[in-house]
Amino acid sequence: MRSRAEILVVGDLHGCWCEEDVDFLENGSQDIVLFVGDLGDEDVAIVERIVDLNVEKAVILGNHDAWQSFSNKQPTDKLRRILELVGDDHLAYGVRELPAAGISIVGARPFTWGGLDLRSPEVYGEFFGVRTSEESAARIAAAAAGADHDDLLVLAHNGPYGLGSSPSSIYGKDFGKRPGGDWGDRDLADALRSIADGGKRVRAVVAGHMHHRLHPQIGGKRARFAKRDGCLYLNPAIVPRICRADDGDGHRRHYLRMIWEAGEMTSADEIWVDRSGRIREVDAVRFRALRSRQKHS
Ligand SMILES: [Fe+2]
Ligand SMILES: [Fe+2]
Repeated sequence: MRSRAEILVVGDLHGCWCEEDVDFLENGSQDIVLFVGDLGDEDVAIVERIVDLNVEKAVILGNHDAWQSFSNKQPTDKLRRILELVGDDHLAYGVRELPAAGISIVGARPFTWGGLDLRSPEVYGEFFGVRTSEESAARIAAAAAGADHDDLLVLAHNGPYGLGSSPSSIYGKDFGKRPGGDWGDRDLADALRSIADGGKRVRAVVAGHMHHRLHPQIGGKRARFAKRDGCLYLNPAIVPRICRADDGDGHRRHYLRMIWEAGEMTSADEIWVDRSGRIREVDAVRFRALRSRQKHS
């Protein structure tokens, strides 16, 4: 039985999607494509384009995908339509098995904004029966417990609390009057602890939301890869993900490519693809080991 799989991850779209992406993925050799959300601003049209993609895929929707619903504190018709369209490919509190890699992919809470609360328990309550961070953590852990494999990849929109409180930390807060602080999700951090206590191994967490370029008041770029207690954290949120090539030769589109074998991620690269589908740049991901205990105020 084959024990190797290729996963391509598409970071926060924010509308950056074109026909060349469709051609590249539909002609690709990947086993599955993962979307970390923020496809658009509660934009049904872009969701239709993603669901039409004729590939194996899984999606976790982001805060922008429910932007008006969270502002109104009740789901809009557009959000209902988006959830209907994505259907079973929406991995919120769900599992997708990837036997070729010996892993299960577990979905965390969708629409996450970061920060301490759920922002709109009304929306979570209606769609998922979840109203608190504790209930959400329990749902993520329950999904993991029901997965076929003991080795897990977690797909989330925002990363977990506990990976650093500098504005340039992988999920650090770089905006507001007082930048700094850990902007990771507490429910996901709690769920990761529960999953480990239950004996399963979260090998990696893939989550975007916190964009690579830091707020102009700070400048510079964010750390997007980290390792803690044997778990790898990957933030693919290069925004915008379609950029003009450095050599002036057209545009390049960003993907994160991971290879998994027998329950472990054996390599990760960031790849930049031209309009003809050729991979023009490959940047190997190097993981920065974090201190195993970081203090948070
Ligand atoms: Fe985003
Ligand atoms: Fe986001």
